[in-house]
Amino acid sequence: MLEPNYTEFSDPRLVALYDQLNPYGVDSEFFCKQAKRLGAKTIIDLGCGTGLLTCELAKREYQMIGIEPSAAMLEVAQSKPFADQIDWLQGSFEQMKGLRADMVLMTSHVAQFFLKNGEWREMLKASHQALKPGGHLVFDIRHLDTPPFVGWPTEDNRRKFENTTDGSVYWWFKLLNVVDKLVRYELHYFFEQSGEEVVSINELIFRSRDEITQALSDTGFEVVTVYGDWDGSTNTPTSPEMIYVAKRD
Ligand SMILES: C[S@@+](CC[C@H](N)C(=O)[O-])C[C@H]1O[C@@H](n2cnc3c(N)ncnc32)[C@H](O)[C@@H]1O
Repeated sequence: MLEPNYTEFSDPRLVALYDQLNPYGVDSEFFCKQAKRLGAKTIIDLGCGTGLLTCELAKREYQMIGIEPSAAMLEVAQSKPFADQIDWLQGSFEQMKGLRADMVLMTSHVAQFFLKNGEWREMLKASHQALKPGGHLVFDIRHLDTPPFVGWPTEDNRRKFENTTDGSVYWWFKLLNVVDKLVRYELHYFFEQSGEEVVSINELIFRSRDEITQALSDTGFEVVTVYGDWDGSTNTPTSPEMIYVAKRD
C-alpha cells in the first residue's frame, strides 16, 4: 500500500505550480466576505499554504497570522506582496498557543487533513483557546458524495498547462482507494522538458455533518451557519460543500 507523502506541499517543483493550479477564486472571495461580515480584525489562517488568501486579507488591512507546516509553501507565501505585514509561523495548531484572534480560518479543505480524531479535536480546542469570546472558526469541508476531484483530469484526459520555469506540464489525478471516510489518491505531474514525473500521494478524511457538528459542540463552539456553496446558499445533503461558521462561546 502506497503511503501518503503530500509532496504537493513539500517538493519545491510542485509548490511552484500550486498557485497556477489553485488560483484565487470564488472561494477566496467568499472567505474575504465572511471576515468583513463577522467584523474580524485579527485572523489566523491555519494551513495557509502559499498565502494567496493570507496576503489578500493583509492587503485589505486585516492583521494576519499565517500558520503552515511546509517550509516550501511558506517560502512562496513570504515572497508575495503584503507578506511583510503578516506574522508567519511554521507548524500546525500548536503554534496558536498564546495567540488572540477574532477569527480562525482553514481554507481549501485544510480541515480534511486532520485524519486522526485526536488531532482533529486538539486542533478545535486550540482554535477555541486562540479565539476571543464571540470569535469565529470558519472552514470548508466536502461531502464524501461530492469529493473535490469529481471531474478532475485523469491519465487519459491530462490537463496541460504552461509554466514559465518548467515549460509544458501535464497534470492528472488517480484515485487509489476509499476506506470508510478516508480517501487516498495520487496527483501526477509530468514535466515535458525534463521527462520527469513527480507523484504526490495524498489522503483526506470526509467527516459527516453530524460528526463535525458534534465535535464543534464538544469543544465549545456553536454552529452559526453551514453554507452549501460559494454563492452563500444553505447546506443541503446534495450541496458540494459544508462551509462552517462556528462561534466560540
Ligand atoms: C489544499 S492546501 C490549502 C492552502 C491554503 N489554505 C489555500 O487556501 O490555498 C492545504 C494546506 O494545508 C496544510 N496542512 C496539511 N496538514 C496540516 C496540518 N496538520 N496543520 C496545518 N496545516 C496543514 C498543507 O501543508 C497545505 O499547505
